[in-house]
Order: sequence, then structure tokens, then C-alpha cells
Amino acid sequence: MTTDFTVTTPIYYVNAAPHLGHAYTTLAADVLARHARQRGARTFSLTGTDEHGEPIAHAAAAQSISPQELVDANAARFRALIATVDATPDFFVRTTDVDHRRQVGELLERLYERDLIYKDAYEGLYCPKCADFKNDREAPDGRCAEHGITLEQHAEENWFFRLSAFEDRLLAHLDAHPEWITPASRAREAHAIVAAGLQDVSISRANLSWGIPVPWDTRQVFYVWFDALLNYITAPASAGVDAWPATVQLIGKDILKFHAIFWSALLWALELELPERLVVHGYLLVDGRKASKSRGNVIDPVAVVERFGADALRFGLFTRVPWLEDGSLSAQTSFADAHAELADVYGNLVRRIWTLTGTYAGGQLPAVPYPDAVGVALSGVAGEVAAALEQVQLTAAASHAIAGARALNGVVDQLAPWTLKGDPSLPAVLAGLV
Ligand code: MSP
Repeated sequence: MTTDFTVTTPIYYVNAAPHLGHAYTTLAADVLARHARQRGARTFSLTGTDEHGEPIAHAAAAQSISPQELVDANAARFRALIATVDATPDFFVRTTDVDHRRQVGELLERLYERDLIYKDAYEGLYCPKCADFKNDREAPDGRCAEHGITLEQHAEENWFFRLSAFEDRLLAHLDAHPEWITPASRAREAHAIVAAGLQDVSISRANLSWGIPVPWDTRQVFYVWFDALLNYITAPASAGVDAWPATVQLIGKDILKFHAIFWSALLWALELELPERLVVHGYLLVDGRKASKSRGNVIDPVAVVERFGADALRFGLFTRVPWLEDGSLSAQTSFADAHAELADVYGNLVRRIWTLTGTYAGGQLPAVPYPDAVGVALSGVAGEVAAALEQVQLTAAASHAIAGARALNGVVDQLAPWTLKGDPSLPAVLAGLV
């Protein structure tokens, strides 16, 4: 199958349990996928787990279990989260899947044969939490800007990818396609990184066994980011769909460099097209700080669903924090408020219409055209929601949808079907509202 609409989430690290930040991107992708499917588009929605690399090996060692045991246990939790939050991806990739591992070896070997990969010595500051080498900007004072930890000097012989060869092409692409990365501030950020000059990047690690072996040098494994990025093309191949280039790739702002720069260069090196859009969302903050397991300020999405339901979780995420911006959530109030709004507006609307239909019209309604008032209330709503989703503006789409439900509630108030008990016009009035 060739798809009309492909959406991807980042694949999630499984060194800890899933938290609300993970549910956020998964649900954003799901909003877009459901909308595309409703419109009859052949849709492929991809998510999964990123299971190799040093942070995983460390987390497993800390628990005295093997990396495989750790990733099996945690990948199952990420998979279970999908059903809990009522998401509907079409495929779930694990980077420990045999099929993914085989394809990564083959794809990167192709680049080696074409001299896009070469051996060199590397020395630099390395953050084990990011699993990445850092330059001065990313690690001022020798500390990782993201994790705040003091970094160690690392030296090893690695395989390098000729990232620098793609600098001009990347700048030209960014200039020619201002809509490629959303929001524009992130496109500018990517532009600034490339304009500052791209250096070749190490794509393998010695001294680490938890990864995909480099086929032509099995003492090394691929650097986890190159293994992980390739999921976007190995997974469709495993699923038997022709889904590349993706229509929308959703990522958080912390992983912009990897997607806008490394991933683009890798795709071009493989003679593949870039995704149509890279949409970069902000952080969910709790107490003003990024929610993350290492900060211990996470909100458990499972607990939110148990208390308020999956609809309130989804609605709350896209209405209580403006999409693409950073925003604060409170475990106590945000989802309670979202639940209350949904219940008051949408729940009340559905309940009034269906209760009256059951009570007064015996569940049987004639086929009638919509009354003018309904047409007026809803005029434009479907178009506004679709236009917002086309632009991946999730908060705007949710606002238009709830405004439509509010307007329809106003029509129900005007028509006051409950005053028409016994009136022969009642079934037609109700039918017009359904
Ligand atoms: N494994 C890499 C991605 C590889 S994609 C080829 C990774 N994983 S992650 O689990 O750390 O993060 C996955 C996504 O979750 C990122 O987009 C990240 O921004 C997002 N979030 C994690 N915490 C978040 C918040 N507190 N708020 C919003 N999203 C954040 O990076």
C-alpha cells in the first residue's frame, strides 16, 4: 500500500516508564491520523521505542538486570500506554526488532560503500544522558545545557558520517522551504546551527555492546541516534507499506538538531526525500520545569486516564497548553478542568439530545434536513477544524470544535425540545439536532 498521509512520533527511550510528555506526542499524532482516516486517506501512523544505547545499558546495570530484560519490560509499558490513552497507531517499531537491526546494518553499509562513512579519532565532551558529544554552545562551562551535569572528556576511534558534505544543501533547503519546519522560530534555530558550520559526526561507539553492530567492524555498535532515526524508514518496510516521505514528523524541541540536520543528511545520503513537514512542539512543564523522569516531576498519564478518562487527557493536553509552546500543567487541576469543560459542553449536548430522543421519541427519528439554526451554528466549524489540522494547529482545532458544540447547545436551548413533550413536531426537531 502507498499511503496518502504518514505521521510519525519520535521513538521513546525505554530507560524508564512512560510519562505525560510521551503521551503528548503520541496523542498529537493520533489526532492527525484519525482526521486523515476520517477523510478516507490511506494513513500510516508510526510510533515505537528506542531501545539501544548507553542510557539503557546503564539503567539495566543499575537494576542488576540485562538490557534485554529492561527493554522488554518497559517497551510493554509504552505499548500498553497506547491503548490506555486511546491512540491508534498503525505500527509500533522496536529498535531491538530483528528486522530493524538487519535494515540498519544494510542501510549504513550502503553509505560506507559509497565513502560517506570513514574512520577517525574522536575527542570531545560527552554527555551519557544525551548519548551525544557536545560542542561549546551545548555545554557551556563543560556542563550539559540539558542535564546540568559535568561532562567528561572522551576519546575513541569511531566511524564518522560526512555530515559536512550536506551543509550547503541544507541551507538551500531551509531557505527554499520556509514552511518545512514549524514553528518558524525552530526553522531559524535549525538554520543557525547549519550556518555555524557542520562537522562530520561520529556514528559508532566503541566500548559499548548494547546496540547494532557495525557490519564491517563488529567491535563497534552504531550510535543510538543513527539506529533510531532510521526507524522512520525501516518500520514502513517491516509493515509492508510505502509510507515515505512522511507527511508530518512530530518531535519535541530538544531533538530538533537530530531531525532537522542529522536525519535530513542521512536521507539525502540514502537518496531519499525529506519529510514534508517537521513540526516541533514545546515542553509540558510541571511547576515551571520540563517534566522528566530525572527531575522527578512527571505526571502519570495512566493515573490521569483512570481519574478523568482518555478524552479529558487528550482535550486537556491540547487546550490547557498552547500547542507548540511550552506550558504548565497541574496534575490536580488541568485535567479536572478539561473534564468539566468537556462534560458541560459536549457531554451535556449529547446527553440532552439522546435522552430526549430515547424518552420522547422512542429512539426512532425521521430523516429530516438540518434546521437553519443548526446550519448557522455549525457553519464553518468543520472547515475551520479541518483547516487548523491541515496546518497541524491542534489547539486551534480543539477550540473550533468545542466552539461548535457550544453553538449547538445554544440551538438546543432555543428550540427547547423538552417543552415539546407530546407535540407531534418533537421527533423532527430532535432529528434535526442529531
Ligand atoms: N529516543 C529519542 C527520540 C528518537 S526519534 C528517532 C528521545 N526519546 S525521549 O523518550 O527522550 O523523548 C521522546 C519525545 O518525548 C521527544 O520529542 C521529547 O521532546 C518528548 N518529551 C519528553 N518529555 C517532554 C515533556 N516534558 N514535554 C513534552 N514533550 C517532551 O528523545
